[in-house]
Amino acid sequence: MSFRWGIAGTGSIAHGFADALGRLPDAHLVAVASRSREKAEEFGEKYAVPADRRYASYEDLAADDTVDLVYVASPQSHHREHTLLFLNSGHGVLCEKPFALDAAQAADMIAVARERGLFLMEAMWSRFLPAYVKLRELIAENAIGTVLSVDADFGFPFPPGGRLFDPALGGGSLLDLGVYPVSLASMLLGEPARVTATGLIGTAGVDDQIAVLSGYTNGAFSVARSSLRTQLACTARIAGTEGHIELPFLMHCPDSLTLQAKGTTETFTLPAARDGDAPETAGGGLHHQVRHLHARLTAGHLESDVIPLDETLSIMRTLDTARAEIGLVFP
Ligand SMILES: NC(=O)c1ccc[n+]([C@@H]2O[C@H](COP(=O)([O-])OP(=O)(O)OC[C@H]3O[C@@H](n4cnc5c(N)ncnc54)[C@H](OP(=O)(O)O)[C@@H]3O)[C@@H](O)[C@H]2O)c1
Repeated sequence: MSFRWGIAGTGSIAHGFADALGRLPDAHLVAVASRSREKAEEFGEKYAVPADRRYASYEDLAADDTVDLVYVASPQSHHREHTLLFLNSGHGVLCEKPFALDAAQAADMIAVARERGLFLMEAMWSRFLPAYVKLRELIAENAIGTVLSVDADFGFPFPPGGRLFDPALGGGSLLDLGVYPVSLASMLLGEPARVTATGLIGTAGVDDQIAVLSGYTNGAFSVARSSLRTQLACTARIAGTEGHIELPFLMHCPDSLTLQAKGTTETFTLPAARDGDAPETAGGGLHHQVRHLHARLTAGHLESDVIPLDETLSIMRTLDTARAEIGLVFP
């Protein structure tokens, strides 16, 4: 079985995704849409998209029923609108993280996918990387006992201006960067019972930085920090009753992880770019999520079991509460 993909948006991550599709023999990039004819042509030329499927509007891509799946690569401010456009035209959708601006938008998107019986998934690519797969295996094997603490952060100083500092585009550290530590905590501990946060809303009107403290019914806690103003460690430490696991810089796409338990320390090397036993190639690991999506569809499923839609919704609720705690409202 092979899948014909369309890409909506021609920004930075769309290029990485087109490259990722090129690594999978069962993925075919057959269409691209941009708000601009020029950008659609340029992107299409670069990734060998047929000339008559380089669309100058997202609506034109939605009208193309030869496309099976659409990757929504627009800013989070537009994820709801674009995901609904493609679902309502009968396409399965892989939507970039953060899935939406808030849980209400996410719930709309999920409801339409379920009503129409179409595939929908949040592109939380970290979950499908070899290091994250190994992390889940170690936890399932009880390598560190019961997880009681997840401490993770992600932040760099970004130059002012641009999408990340634009409230109208859903900017801020939390939705773009903080979603990774929050999602990691969700993967390991589930939905928190309590969420508190402290942060700094800067002159642009978005969170320049934020720390989210969550508590869980079993007494576990997580701390997720993100920043656009300062260099954080960008690591994660997962502590259990019998040991701990560390994800090195960069915690959202690590090439290794270290397990310390029962008096021994072991480092597993698991390059994000590696494809099973195939030789390593340059580039990121965005293709792992696509392989999973193809496998789920082939097996007749309409969502992921690694990042289920109900969990995506729960993560959005956590992000909503954290934003409310610091008084961050999008226009
Ligand atoms: N998975 C990852 O590693 C990763 C990394 C970075 C970003 N992301 C996520 O992916 C999304 C896109 O991020 P990006 O860094 O690729 O952003 P970007 O470089 O700014 O690109 C976003 C693209 O969205 C399209 N778009 C549609 N409506 C728009 C609007 N009203 N304003 C601006 N752009 C609009 C534009 O393409 P056209 O002009 O062609 O329409 C634009 O180039 C975000 O949600 C972000 O959080 C994920």
